[in-house]
Amino acid sequence: MSAIVITEEARHWQEVAHKVAEEVVRPIAKHFDEVQEYPEEVKQAYIENGLLGVWIPKEYGGHGAGIVALCLVIEELSRACGGTGVAYAVNALGSFPMLVGGTEEQKQKWLPQVASGEKMIAFCLSEKFAGSDAGGMQCQARLDGDHWVLNGEKKWTTNGGVASLYTVFAVTDPTSKSRRISAVMVEQGTPGFEVRKVEDKMGIRCVPVVETHFEDCRVPQENLLGGRPGMGFKHAMGTLDLARPGVAAQGLGLAQGALEYAVTYAKRRIQFGAPISSMGVIQDMLALMATKVEAARGLVLRAATAVDQGDTAAVNKLAAMSKSFATDVAMEVTTNAVQIFGGYGYMKDYPIEKYMRDAKITQIYEGTNQIQRMVIARNLIKEADKFSYLNAYIPTESYDTYNALSEEELAAAGEAVS
Ligand code: CAA
Repeated sequence: MSAIVITEEARHWQEVAHKVAEEVVRPIAKHFDEVQEYPEEVKQAYIENGLLGVWIPKEYGGHGAGIVALCLVIEELSRACGGTGVAYAVNALGSFPMLVGGTEEQKQKWLPQVASGEKMIAFCLSEKFAGSDAGGMQCQARLDGDHWVLNGEKKWTTNGGVASLYTVFAVTDPTSKSRRISAVMVEQGTPGFEVRKVEDKMGIRCVPVVETHFEDCRVPQENLLGGRPGMGFKHAMGTLDLARPGVAAQGLGLAQGALEYAVTYAKRRIQFGAPISSMGVIQDMLALMATKVEAARGLVLRAATAVDQGDTAAVNKLAAMSKSFATDVAMEVTTNAVQIFGGYGYMKDYPIEKYMRDAKITQIYEGTNQIQRMVIARNLIKEADKFSYLNAYIPTESYDTYNALSEEELAAAGEAVS
């Protein structure tokens, strides 16, 4: 089991992000939430401070600081504004497929441009009829001479329109079950590629979430990720394992930020002749909120450390645990923070209701928390053989024999749960 490791370098990037969050992000968060526009000055601040290279290895122009560092940066940005946190984090999401499965040539070509901020990048997986069931996508890519021709549409592309490079998952072999999908890199401006519906959202309003459409969109054959078709679903799943601790960190940042506002307000709000922070009911709420935030932080760092240390056996489960736990904590803590602000908390003049709106999506995107729990349970059931010796301590009753399943029935039941 990998212990939590936070390097000096990761702490450095956390400090840089903290400064950007307090000096650039927090003062403008309310405005860009209201107008639902992307804050260019925040993008400039990422670039000027080198934040877009944090997770990219040094050999591809980044700082090679790893996923713990990435999570600390996302937490700091999200503490000030959840929208800004994801506007940053989706660049990691968009570039992870290349790190997971790209050829050396592809990495050399694109990753330095992402690290420098020359190209913002987006991740196009979901479709109207394929959200949780990502493998059920319909968007197609067909080889025609030395080009892949894309047709179809993707849904909920975060950063769409701002990004100039898109990692697009499409069906390249409709007849195959396990090698149906591939990822193709599409540059903005490619004929046949268009950003259409820009969504009007409850939260994370400063970052665009769009539909991307492809109509006979031709991309060079060498843009197929990894150079070999059929690896797309594995690349997508491997990507989500790397990216989910980042969503967890976004939830953590939102919860931490809301807690800080709640304590500050509770000390200043006078009711019944005393600050509400002196009242037991409020202290109980604050104490539970703070405890859950710390528990979430532990899990985020544990999952991110497992990624950095290449603990592949643990990553899938820990990534899902951190994502579902920290984002549920985000929803609970931000909701309670609104409660502590009382009537004022519900009003847009105050900063706290935005935290609650921003938190909601973290329970949904990059795999709903229900999907995360399915992933966790699948891992647990797979690992359960380690404990089969415990059967010796569980008495066998006659109904066990009566209910005994044949090997085939057991296999079928296994399939049903996995
Ligand atoms: N790493 C590598 N390979 C993996 C893997 C992983 N973590 N998980 C599964 N695979 C492989 C399996 O080994 C299997 O390979 P074979 O065919 O060779 O055996 C293949 O992928 C299929 O696996 P499953 O049978 O487990 O696939 P499934 O159809 O049951 O789906 C799922 C699994 C976990 C439900 C998956 O579909 C999933 O994660 N769904 C959620 C989708 C999601 O998270 N979408 C987020 C969109 S991005 C977004 O929201 C971003 C944003 O806007 C900010």
